[in-house]
Amino acid sequence: MTDRYAVFGNPIGHSKSPAIHARFAAQTGQDIRYEALLAPLDGFAAAVDSFRAAGGKGANVTVPFKEEAFRLAHRLTPRAERAGAVNTLAFGADGILGDNTDGAGLTRDIEANVGIPMAGKRVLVLGAGGAARGAIAPLLGCRPQSLTLANRSADKAAALAGEFSDLDRISGGGFADLAGRVFDVVINATSASLAGEALPLPPGLFAPGSLAYDMMYGRGDTPFLALARQQGAGLLADGLGMLVEQAAEAFLLWRGVRPATAPVLAALRAELGHPRATP
Ligand SMILES: NC(=O)c1ccc[n+]([C@@H]2O[C@H](COP(=O)([O-])OP(=O)(O)OC[C@H]3O[C@@H](n4cnc5c(N)ncnc54)[C@H](OP(=O)(O)O)[C@@H]3O)[C@@H](O)[C@H]2O)c1
Repeated sequence: MTDRYAVFGNPIGHSKSPAIHARFAAQTGQDIRYEALLAPLDGFAAAVDSFRAAGGKGANVTVPFKEEAFRLAHRLTPRAERAGAVNTLAFGADGILGDNTDGAGLTRDIEANVGIPMAGKRVLVLGAGGAARGAIAPLLGCRPQSLTLANRSADKAAALAGEFSDLDRISGGGFADLAGRVFDVVINATSASLAGEALPLPPGLFAPGSLAYDMMYGRGDTPFLALARQQGAGLLADGLGMLVEQAAEAFLLWRGVRPATAPVLAALRAELGHPRATP
């Protein structure tokens, strides 16, 4: 009997998750069907309930429902609890388990796929929304020298850093506070690139050989990657690998088997015409 999974979001038409999970299923011989489902903005919980009642085994959750999914889950993994947001639901006899695989997907992509270990590095995260929140504990788990958060609304970054101050080596502020600072890894977790906007970053942020990583992906450089290229970043990467890696973590939770991500990422890049951007 084919097990059903889905990704819920609004909008959802652009989602690449069905294509990714179809490839994982074919590769591992798992009998699953995975579809993209549009949930009404005021009807996320009802949409999940009816999918579950119809026999659904689990779901991914994307914009704008990750915090609602956090509240919907009956039990949380420690990383979901820490992130305050859920992107993966698993349905069992004992209720709904909520997990967050975004941060693990990000760190795995940077360290294993892009090939940049973060231990001892000065890491900067731009943004203080859901994606930044989910990334903090996994990034700190990579043992960077420091983790700095900077956001358009400086108070939000300071408050977010304060929530994780027990984990040490973390601080937060505005973009202007970055003047005179230098980083080895700069991660764009804002949605500015979605709107085609560049961030007002001071010059000189990128250390020689540094990595500029945009969680967003698209053909060619995003505005953030274009700025990083101008400012002399050594290596540029987009967020397509993060998308594939967070999906693999969800697949592992649901099916107990970890798919190989490299061939799926390569196939997706070829299909979409999204080469990993490098200077
Ligand atoms: N590759 C992946 O697998 C993956 C996974 C998750 C997310 N993402 C991407 O990550 C990005 C952020 O997602 P999210 O869920 O964190 O969104 P979110 O919760 O809505 O947060 C948006 C963040 O972007 C900032 N921002 C928005 N427009 C800006 C602008 N014009 N200039 C400067 N800052 C701006 C906001 O700053 P304020 O606080 O000042 O409003 C906030 O920090 C999106 O592009 C999303 O597609 C990718």
